Amino acid sequence: MKRTVVRSLSFATTLVLLSAPAFAEEGDAKAGKLAFNNACRTCHSVDEGDNRLGPNLHAIIGRDAGSEDYKYSPAMADSDVVWDAENLDQFIENPEGLIPGNNMKPYGGISDPAIRARIVAYLSDAGGEGDEEGETGEGE
Ligand code: HEC
Repeated sequence: MKRTVVRSLSFATTLVLLSAPAFAEEGDAKAGKLAFNNACRTCHSVDEGDNRLGPNLHAIIGRDAGSEDYKYSPAMADSDVVWDAENLDQFIENPEGLIPGNNMKPYGGISDPAIRARIVAYLSDAGGEGDEEGETGEGE
């Protein structure tokens, strides 16, 4: 029942819910995926080796920046960043702030820390150690 309700909410309402703490607990995995789809999926896939306009983000936490088989900007390729939850959060807030001269464009940044946190949590699950086991398992 709850799932049907969540599904039928309009896109805009869902975005508002993403910022509401009450929605956080059981909605987290879903909210993270939604936020990723909204902000990143135009250019990124989380499937291993699936490079699109941007490099794939499979198991991005723990990866060296610029290490996939993808034509990175020199700035990204030469950076010493190893992705973790903290620098990933900084990067999606303001890519230029973390890696000046990178080529993740056009991308406006996400100023809402709650939305960034959900995306980072989603990416931590995407091909990381846990690999998706967290989702509800019922009904889908
Ligand atoms: C307009 C397309 C576009 C959007 C939208 C976009 N990216 Fe990117 N992203 C890129 C490109 C292109 C690169 C490669 C940048 C470079 O080489 O300097 C990149 C690089 C990255 C990297 C570095 C990957 C690596 O292998 O080191 C991360 C992490 C990343 N993006 C995360 C995100 C996240 C998370 C979002 C959503 C919040 C997002 N990106 C939205 C195009 C995009």
